[in-house]
Amino acid sequence: MTFEEIKQTADTCLMPTYAHFPVALARGENATYWDAEGREYIDFTAGIGVNSLGTNDEAWKNAVKAQLDCLQHTSNLYYNETVAKAAKLLCERAGFARVHLSNSGAEANECAIKLARKYSFDKYGDGRYNIISLVNSFHGRTIATVTATGQAHYHEFFTPFLDGFKYAESGDREGFLQLLDGTDCAVILEVIQGEGGVLETPREYIEFVRRICDAKDILLIFDEVQTGVGRTGKLFAYETVGVKPDILTTAKGIGGGLPMGACLCTEALGNTLTPGTHGTTFGGNPVACAGSLAVLERMDDAFLQSVREKGDYIREKLNGFTEIQEIRGRGLMIGIDLKTKKAGEVAAKCCENGLLILTAKSALRMLPPLTITYEEIDKGLSVLERVLSES
Ligand SMILES: Cc1ncc(COP(=O)(O)O)c(C=O)c1O
Repeated sequence: MTFEEIKQTADTCLMPTYAHFPVALARGENATYWDAEGREYIDFTAGIGVNSLGTNDEAWKNAVKAQLDCLQHTSNLYYNETVAKAAKLLCERAGFARVHLSNSGAEANECAIKLARKYSFDKYGDGRYNIISLVNSFHGRTIATVTATGQAHYHEFFTPFLDGFKYAESGDREGFLQLLDGTDCAVILEVIQGEGGVLETPREYIEFVRRICDAKDILLIFDEVQTGVGRTGKLFAYETVGVKPDILTTAKGIGGGLPMGACLCTEALGNTLTPGTHGTTFGGNPVACAGSLAVLERMDDAFLQSVREKGDYIREKLNGFTEIQEIRGRGLMIGIDLKTKKAGEVAAKCCENGLLILTAKSALRMLPPLTITYEEIDKGLSVLERVLSES
């Protein structure tokens, strides 16, 4: 099909929930893509933080293919070796006792919300169900996770939203304390708010929230859907702030391109969700698990070090771009505020010129594959520099 045919078909049949860039991607090699007409693009998006090992990674593909040669799906009624291995490795590497596997970030957060509420119900009875999230957060698109999302514009159209969510201003300790009234079971936060503009939640605030949660037996949930799986240069971003949550959710990069979400928890919470209280047909699918094993096996110390080094290299180069106001984030999660240009217009121009780049609110955002080469970085940055210097 030509690009026009692809576009016409998609625009006719898909619900118009996405503002597509005018490109149909056909194939890729690490962080380089080609469109249906053979034009080349450097990828600073990784499919919004998903293709952690880039495209066409040999070991990842082989692991997934080997699983496909055995079986693609078992349901969660039966054990499967690949699923068991993936769960074990994820728990070990993340430092948690148990995990529930699902298909997306929103589902992982749904699991975390249910887990927190049931833990509290089991221990304290009814009425202690409130979840506190942060203003400007993003936790997903299901009704519960969109309710948890602390941005007003997501709270349009779909009323009534769920009861039992409160919003705290990031960094405001006094305001946080004022929200507490004995009905709270959990706090959910992103170590770095991704969709909110790549904004770090202050470390001292996270430490403070941890202390209060400990004192009041309120569970602390870190949503590491975007920051997890090596993105910030540590396997999980909680390691960068030195505060461990009770529940950690992750998704995006964990399957290396296959749908996978995970809700991890400590030993104390491990037996809270029992048969019948939570589940999913597809979650923990053996093929996705095979992909996640290949991803986690790759992420040793040297790999994570390379993520930090590439992040530093990009930041150093960006520092020389005069149109850039501020650079935020960690590792290969990078947010850029511009002085005069609009991020959306810059992203569109970059796309026309062979660079795929994201936005997050008014910032430009980079989430390249963690395997991106220095040559690909240089090529991508030269497109960005050109676009930013155009008058
Ligand atoms: C921090 C965070 N949580 C949750 C989600 C939702 O994940 P998904 O789109 O896989 O449901 C996202 C997606 O961008 C995210 O960045």
